[in-house]
Amino acid sequence: DKGGWSSFMAKEVSEQPDAVANTLRGRIVDGVVVIPELAEFGDEALARIRRIVIIACGTAAYAGQVAKYAIEKWAKVPVDVELSHEFRYRDPVIENDTLVVSISQSGETMDTLMAVKYAREAGAVAISICNTQGATIPRESNAVIYTHAGPEVAVASTKAFVAQIAALYLFALHLARVRGTLGSAELLEHTAELQAIPEKIATTLLQGDAVRQLATWMTDSRAVLFLGRHVGFPIALEGALKLKELAYIHAEGFAAGELKHGPIALIEPGQPVFVVVPSPRGSAHLHPKVVSNIQEIRARGARVIVIAEQGDAAVLPFADTVIHIPLAAPLFEPLLAVVPLQLFAMELATAKGLDVDQPRNLAKSVTVE
Ligand code: M6R
Repeated sequence: DKGGWSSFMAKEVSEQPDAVANTLRGRIVDGVVVIPELAEFGDEALARIRRIVIIACGTAAYAGQVAKYAIEKWAKVPVDVELSHEFRYRDPVIENDTLVVSISQSGETMDTLMAVKYAREAGAVAISICNTQGATIPRESNAVIYTHAGPEVAVASTKAFVAQIAALYLFALHLARVRGTLGSAELLEHTAELQAIPEKIATTLLQGDAVRQLATWMTDSRAVLFLGRHVGFPIALEGALKLKELAYIHAEGFAAGELKHGPIALIEPGQPVFVVVPSPRGSAHLHPKVVSNIQEIRARGARVIVIAEQGDAAVLPFADTVIHIPLAAPLFEPLLAVVPLQLFAMELATAKGLDVDQPRNLAKSVTVE
């Protein structure tokens, strides 16, 4: 039931505040993250982990890429994020102090399932982040942290993505506490930031009309580029994936720092480029670098659409369109910045008369290798 929405995707995008809130519910007690699902490992075992390998495909892998920044910063454990199908077939080094974390909305993605089985046979402990109760991947894992996004029907993953990041951040904070890598004041501060996210996503959703207008003049675009830096990089990749799968437009995401190493050659007059801009307050060292990237592409005629924090005045002179997101600490910006990119892909596909819930050639759950 679409509940009055034009598509399941529109409904699911709108449900994102609840997807995050429900994933946090019961897992924060007096401002402290508690994940009973991990109790069986014991805190000492989690404290002994030397390396984390995140395995996933598609959008779930981008959630993993976002979480890498938080886990390394907070829990000080090295994290590799690997596509399940690449991991499985390259003789990866797995040691008994390696923790494998799989991420899957459906819990049935064959590539990820095979990677989890492979890792466990090699002696790793595997935790699953999954949105589907009782699915195969959680059953094949040592423990599962369920996301509570509710059923996701549209092929394009949206609310599951933000719920995955929320669950991974809970995991990162839990890990930081048992490993003693963050003090209690910092733990409380980050946990409070996480709890504030549902309301900030709701505020971001109010940009829907601005995004729809943008989409209407872009229906003839042949290619769209997405730039991001730090946690904005996986969001650029996700924005490009959404546009490919829904609107059948060639789209590529780049790390903004790579621009001069090749991609800037693609910029010609009229080329639309989305830029996810880090906060000028929270990322004072990165913000000017991204603004300078914007100037470089603008000087070559790019049509620049900027996703920037409310009040970021530095981007205004160089942007054709600015979409604002609420203030958040840097690691939390992805949960907000992704929303206009999801809406954009959905609106552009709709404007082109395409089926946003069931794009061509795609299945919701990829149960073959
Ligand atoms: O069910 P999973 O999370 O394992 O699915 C992984 C990918 O197939 C999935 O995220 C896919 O990339 C989506 N269609 C993206 O919108």
